[in-house]
Amino acid sequence: MDFSVKIGSLVLKNPILTASGTFGYGIEYETFGDLKKLGGIVVKGLSINPRQGNMGDRIAETPCGMLNSIGLENIGINAFIQDILPKLPYKQTPIIVNLYGENINDFETLSKITSKREEIGALEVNISCPNVKQGGIQFGQDEKSAAKVCEAVKKHAGSKVVIVKLSPNVSDIKKIAKAVELAGADAISLINTIPAMAVDIYKRRPKLTNVIGGLSGPAIKPIALRMVYEVVQVVNIPVIGIGGISSVEDVFEFILVGAHAVQIGSANFTNPALSFEIVDSLQIMANKLNINSLEEFRGKLII
Ligand SMILES: Cc1cc2nc3c(=O)[nH]c(=O)nc-3n(C[C@H](O)[C@H](O)[C@H](O)COP(=O)(O)O)c2cc1C
Repeated sequence: MDFSVKIGSLVLKNPILTASGTFGYGIEYETFGDLKKLGGIVVKGLSINPRQGNMGDRIAETPCGMLNSIGLENIGINAFIQDILPKLPYKQTPIIVNLYGENINDFETLSKITSKREEIGALEVNISCPNVKQGGIQFGQDEKSAAKVCEAVKKHAGSKVVIVKLSPNVSDIKKIAKAVELAGADAISLINTIPAMAVDIYKRRPKLTNVIGGLSGPAIKPIALRMVYEVVQVVNIPVIGIGGISSVEDVFEFILVGAHAVQIGSANFTNPALSFEIVDSLQIMANKLNINSLEEFRGKLII
């Protein structure tokens, strides 16, 4: 069966992408599977300058998930373009750069730099990181700010597909989704992590030095599914589902509620070969579901 999907003008050979921050810059996973198999690789969030991220304890395991407070540690956009990008199989698998800016100017600069690189397939605009003091989630919680960031990126993105990644930490995700669609987004991805905390009663301390971090993993899947379901009702652009996906069944759950593609996140830490294995099991699952195309299943939830 043909598993290809279109995200704006970008054609993915299958709907399986990796989620930013959980698959390094891609090359780290080369030994676990063939990167060329994946529908796309979304790399760790990139800023204009390198960032050290937060200090101290930055991850903690929780029931059915994990907390992280990495604080967007990354090598910076230029080092990524020079040192990593040439090593990635960008001709066979679209490379999607996840962009982080502290302000609108940063997003414009990142868009200018990345739009010139033919090796880059699409831009994912992160307006949803809960672990940084400036930028991040503050753009994703307000319709006007979300739209402004999207417009700024689109203005310089040329023909690059622009995906806006939404935060679940809002009272009405539909409003933000509509605002970024109106601002020109080619697609929407959701969800980022959910602010949460864990404590150690013996040490009487929070498990994360930053106290609060982002919850991810199977614990958040029902929330992600609900939000994807809500967003697909109100927008006409493709939606990419993210949150707790750890099996091929999970992938089809997101497609059933209307997602065009999905991203595998924290599950890559439990099994670094998982994204590749899921690609390999798409056909088996399609046979089980008795379908001949993704279209005949996408959004076909019977209510
Ligand atoms: C350790 C870690 C680092 C992350 N870094 C980023 C990032 O740089 N940019 C971003 O947009 N999302 C980042 N995320 C969020 C994931 O891409 C994803 O949206 C979230 O973890 C939910 O998916 P999951 O439950 O499958 O992990 C990160 C998540 C984790 C666990």
